[in-house]
Amino acid sequence: MKGLVLCAGRGTRLRPLTYTIAKQLIPVANRPVIHYNLNFLKNAGIRELAVVVNPDNHHVFKDFLKDGSELNMKIDYVIQQEPRGIADAVYKAREFLKEDPFLLILGDNLIFDDITPSVEKFKNSRCEAMVLLAPVEDPRAYGVAVIENDHIKRVVEKPKEPPSNLAIVGIYMFRSRIFEAIENIKPSQRGELEITDAIEYLIEKGYDVKARTVRGWWKDTGKPEDLLEANRQILDDMKLGDIKGHVDSSSKIQGRVSIGENSQVIESIIRGPVIIGSNCTVKRSYVGPYTSIGDDVELEQSEIENSILMSKSKVSKVRARIDSSVLGQSSEIHQNGVLPRVMKVVIGDLSIIEL
Ligand code: DAU
Repeated sequence: MKGLVLCAGRGTRLRPLTYTIAKQLIPVANRPVIHYNLNFLKNAGIRELAVVVNPDNHHVFKDFLKDGSELNMKIDYVIQQEPRGIADAVYKAREFLKEDPFLLILGDNLIFDDITPSVEKFKNSRCEAMVLLAPVEDPRAYGVAVIENDHIKRVVEKPKEPPSNLAIVGIYMFRSRIFEAIENIKPSQRGELEITDAIEYLIEKGYDVKARTVRGWWKDTGKPEDLLEANRQILDDMKLGDIKGHVDSSSKIQGRVSIGENSQVIESIIRGPVIIGSNCTVKRSYVGPYTSIGDDVELEQSEIENSILMSKSKVSKVRARIDSSVLGQSSEIHQNGVLPRVMKVVIGDLSIIEL
């Protein structure tokens, strides 16, 4: 069975972060989202996969994942010129997929579950597709499925009036029949070839489409608050801390805390779960629960919790506690303490500052 990971979207809901970083490469608990997905595929027994990228982010992914050998996988790249929909992205990969069954995963989804039993069930069955579902409170932002036993009877993309609470989680298994389905669908109102329409085609033609419910947790990391929630979940699951850097005698480390090589903690309190990368300096600061700090970050006389600080960011002398925030690479917040007390900002398009 092959794998297919989609990373060709534009990530508009995560702007401005996605102006400079593909959303699948945004770090959650200091590891890019795509790493979790590749691990997920590996755990499901998949070693050969293609990543669908766009012409702009193609090189970034190639530089980052290379040919996959470092991960003990074989990675190919497929370019989708324009984000014309998930079904279009799948169709672009048909030369790579050939006649093989494949597992499709949306690159911005995070899922922690063992799906080996589902993969086995799919391989041993004659169904044309298997779709993973999870019950959600508000299904309107998702593809929604109606099921009968473990068969899908209907799917509908982002319905205003959801026919059930079962959301499509962005993990699908298909056989090559899906290409026939994609050839027979038309772009939706939002101008995309929807994979839900292709699945609906299979159902209408009488093919068996199976449903499986996810038991572990799953998150679509499409918005900043989703990234923070995924960060909380992963840090919550973090087992013991691992302190490689230096912590001075006047600092306090409480709970599960990981600190990378060459990092220094001086006169500070770190209350886990927290992960701090390498070459960081945390001085006279408080780092509270559910904070992930990337490499080369400087934190001075500041307080932060429940946040993601990407590499090379700097926070110094900020009087208010920073909470529920995502700081992009090399971003900076500092308070100069000079009167009059004014706010001076240099922020890019679509940045958000909440005071
Ligand atoms: O998160 C689960 C939901 O994902 C499902 O419930 C929906 O049925 C499914 O359509 C999808 O909805 P989204 O609106 O969240 O999809 P999004 O546009 O964010 O794209 C998901 C991933 O697929 C993302 O990693 C980018 C990639 N993609 C998307 C499009 C439209 C491509 O590679 N090419 C594309 O043309």
